[in-house]
Amino acid sequence: MKITFTTKQVIGTADKMIYGHFLEHFHRQIYGGVYDPTSKFADEDGFRTDVIEALKKIKTPIIRWPGGCYVSAYDWKKGVGKDRPKTFDKAWRVEESNEFGTDEFIKLCKKIGCEPYICTNGGTGTAEDMSDWVEYCNLKDMGEYAKQRKENGYEEPHNVKYWSVGNENWGSHEIGAKDSEEWGNLVREASKMMVRVDPTIELSAASIVDLDWNVNLLRKAGQYLDWVSIHSYWEGSWNGRKNNGYETLMLRTGEDIVGNIDRVRAYLRALGYEKKIKIAYDEWNLRGWFHPNNMFLSTDERKKYTEEFYENEVIGQRDNNDVNETYTMADAVFSAAFLNTCLRNCDIVGMACFSPIVNTRGAIFTHKDGLVLRPQYFVFDLYANLMKSTVLDTWSEDVPVMTGIDGNREKTVDTVDIAVTYDNGEYAIGAVNKDAQNEQTVDLEMLDGKVSMMRIHTVNGPSADSYNDIDKTEVGITVSEWVPFNGKVTLEPHSVNVIELK
Ligand code: AHR
Repeated sequence: MKITFTTKQVIGTADKMIYGHFLEHFHRQIYGGVYDPTSKFADEDGFRTDVIEALKKIKTPIIRWPGGCYVSAYDWKKGVGKDRPKTFDKAWRVEESNEFGTDEFIKLCKKIGCEPYICTNGGTGTAEDMSDWVEYCNLKDMGEYAKQRKENGYEEPHNVKYWSVGNENWGSHEIGAKDSEEWGNLVREASKMMVRVDPTIELSAASIVDLDWNVNLLRKAGQYLDWVSIHSYWEGSWNGRKNNGYETLMLRTGEDIVGNIDRVRAYLRALGYEKKIKIAYDEWNLRGWFHPNNMFLSTDERKKYTEEFYENEVIGQRDNNDVNETYTMADAVFSAAFLNTCLRNCDIVGMACFSPIVNTRGAIFTHKDGLVLRPQYFVFDLYANLMKSTVLDTWSEDVPVMTGIDGNREKTVDTVDIAVTYDNGEYAIGAVNKDAQNEQTVDLEMLDGKVSMMRIHTVNGPSADSYNDIDKTEVGITVSEWVPFNGKVTLEPHSVNVIELK
């Protein structure tokens, strides 16, 4: 296979925010994840220092919080100040202590050195609640909420730049779901009030890959928006565990990813917003959460369920998300293919949040004696640290493909997936070999630019099913020496690579 590029043919500038993350009050993400005053790793504020260090290492640029479905019944006012009542979390059916609220989130972001991104309650919340939250965070001293923040010990505004109206409000699973007309109206009114409080914020709104939804949203509220939020989980296991193997999951790395971006781009273009509004892929992960029996109970099922059933069969089942052997090289390869797709579409995708940061499906798993870094963690490590900002267009010849049946559809995807980035005479090329058995050799042809040396960083393990766990480390990064560049690179089977050229 051959890939050709020139520094004269540029797609755009990549926004570092595509290496972002998501953190929700769900299962052990907050309590027992980033925040755990009982842990031997806790700092003076109760945050786990080992998690913070791991997030710094992958240069986490932004974190979206507090949900997710959780936010659609969340009252942020109960999570600030001294009196914090315990509340019943209707999304996930557990009790929320409210110990971790807005001020703690901001503190966490400061410790990591990343941007906070707040997702507001577009379910049970009102436009006023949302703009009150902006007041609390961003006004210096005018009004009730800025004064409250100061009384709570935060003299200076938190200056939260990124906000979004709602989460997945298009879905019947969501508390306070809306139809597309209602959604357009709420986003317009909420945005109007939020930007009136702070005109400098950047605003997103919950969207979906759907024409009608976007037409209503953009016609009614497009003038206020900087972003539209979309989410994808390609291996949805919310109502039962799925066991699709590596080969099947690889079939989802092509059109299944880029098709979503293409369609939302088309809606933005059709409504005249392609140059103004970007896509925030603010929840994504190969795998969706496993939380069976929670959302879609029939009337009969609901009546026969006891509290014990909920405890064991709903809440208890969530622990299955923590099984580390689920997260293999398939997750790493898929994640790199996703990031490559964002890079190649950097003119329209400006933010992406891996969902979630820690525990459940996260790249980091916490236990009492430390962390397990799952395979996808190392992809963020390579991409966030090494990839450059100018994304070059490429031409490919003789690309090998993989074909197979996924569900009842035949799919074909490229076996090798490449994104070329460049700055100041140096290149960093994200290169994924999805083939589980065979190496792939790629000819890299530069039409301009001169480089003489190459170094390759590789995320891999002994097999496509390799994973890390508390007592075993199979997946990690290896780095070659700098070697003379001869125009070719060989990629190991099931590997994620960043090739540096200088
Ligand atoms: O299952 C977790 C949920 O997945 C998030 O809360 C939601 O936004 C997405 O549907």
